[in-house]
Amino acid sequence: MDKIQIYGGNPLSGTIMIGGSKNASLPVMCASLLTDEPLILGNVPHLADITTMANLLSQHGVEVSLEGHDDNEGHIGRVLSLKAKDINNTTAPYDLVRKMRASILVLGPLLARAGKAVVSLPGGCAIGTRPVDLHLNGLRKLGANISVENGYIHASVPKGLSGARIIFPKISVGATENLILASVLAKGTTILQNAAKEPEINDLVNCLNSMGAKIEGIGTPNLTINGVPKLNGTRHAIMPDRIEAGTYAIAAAITGGKINLSGARLNDISSAVDSLRLAGINIQKSANGILVDRSNSELKSINIETEPYPGFPTDLQAQFISLMSAANGTSIVKETIFENRFMHVPELQRMGADITLDGGSAIVRGTKKLTGAPVMASDLRASASLVLAGLIAEGKTTVRRIYHLDRGYERLEEKLASVGAEIIRLKDEM
Ligand code: UD1
Repeated sequence: MDKIQIYGGNPLSGTIMIGGSKNASLPVMCASLLTDEPLILGNVPHLADITTMANLLSQHGVEVSLEGHDDNEGHIGRVLSLKAKDINNTTAPYDLVRKMRASILVLGPLLARAGKAVVSLPGGCAIGTRPVDLHLNGLRKLGANISVENGYIHASVPKGLSGARIIFPKISVGATENLILASVLAKGTTILQNAAKEPEINDLVNCLNSMGAKIEGIGTPNLTINGVPKLNGTRHAIMPDRIEAGTYAIAAAITGGKINLSGARLNDISSAVDSLRLAGINIQKSANGILVDRSNSELKSINIETEPYPGFPTDLQAQFISLMSAANGTSIVKETIFENRFMHVPELQRMGADITLDGGSAIVRGTKKLTGAPVMASDLRASASLVLAGLIAEGKTTVRRIYHLDRGYERLEEKLASVGAEIIRLKDEM
């Protein structure tokens, strides 16, 4: 197992290339199950979660191959070809699903294409219970028979899926994606109301429409999907990763540095950008991305609340807490999406951060100094928050269990080292 070692204190400066979005790639890869023609995806990041999804799709019968690399303004993304000529297995086993909750996204397209699926329940995870009721109830509305037995979802739709009106009682990114993936081949029209509006959903909709789907209402909470009998293959470039961009924006901010995030799109993280500006960070569009500069300004404490898009993303909450730990004043960070997403807090406290948890909120009092310490990563974004704190902590910080980081950040230590951080990956002998 690897660990990351950081000596904090260097203001970062230079350019970081932002890769393709993990959270957009995963549902888009599942779209390959809907056609027997090849789906060629560009700008796919090289991450553990992408490999898990590729393995899952392969065992359903998708031929997955690496077609090479595309050069996107200096960022080298991967080009994947996915071809599901035949679906020869409709079971998603526990061993793969437990590694990554997004595996549940094969359920909708398997039902649409093969009329049946058996998918392991993903179970809870470090950030909360994370049920899948919204996915299952939506698919039932489209006509699926669903039961849960021995930890597996058994779903079938002998007469094929039929369009329906689905009003989500709660906004869910994954349930919206699963229902879109299921309904594009359903008979008739499906209307999704109170759907999630995350940019990753737009990426999925754009890809499906270029495969011949008929989806209207992109970027709104109301999607109308007119089912088509067949989809074709296509070429699609995955959008840039807005959470990776936000994380490196915070790296520039916390170290008092200046980084150009090449390939990042300001509009995708506008609410995080608004918050960072209020905290005293200068952020502008640059020729090829976003320029983040705190080389000459004081870091101020501000309050934030996580919300579905376009609100402040929960996937940047942990990183923001690290930032506020180094700010001037007291900040209240309210988490409204996941019930248990503060696993990073006890680890940050070990580095000298002054944080009190109060139900779903963290009260973060800025401190003049964080100190390096051995810390343990608990989930993907929590790991990133520990690295960020390590960048300004006095002395050595060692982050263990970084397999969490490798799920969502490509070559994180190389990217940070290239802008001046003293950071290396080591083999963990523990
Ligand atoms: C996706 C993202 C994840 C991000 C999250 C919220 C991917 C692969 N993951 O996760 O990084 O943190 O959106 O922006 O894109 N819920 C239910 N029932 C359900 C489904 C969800 O109650 O059937 C609840 C969840 O427990 C959570 C909330 O709805 O409290 C939002 O979850 P959801 O948007 O579904 O998150 P994911 O799609 O799992």
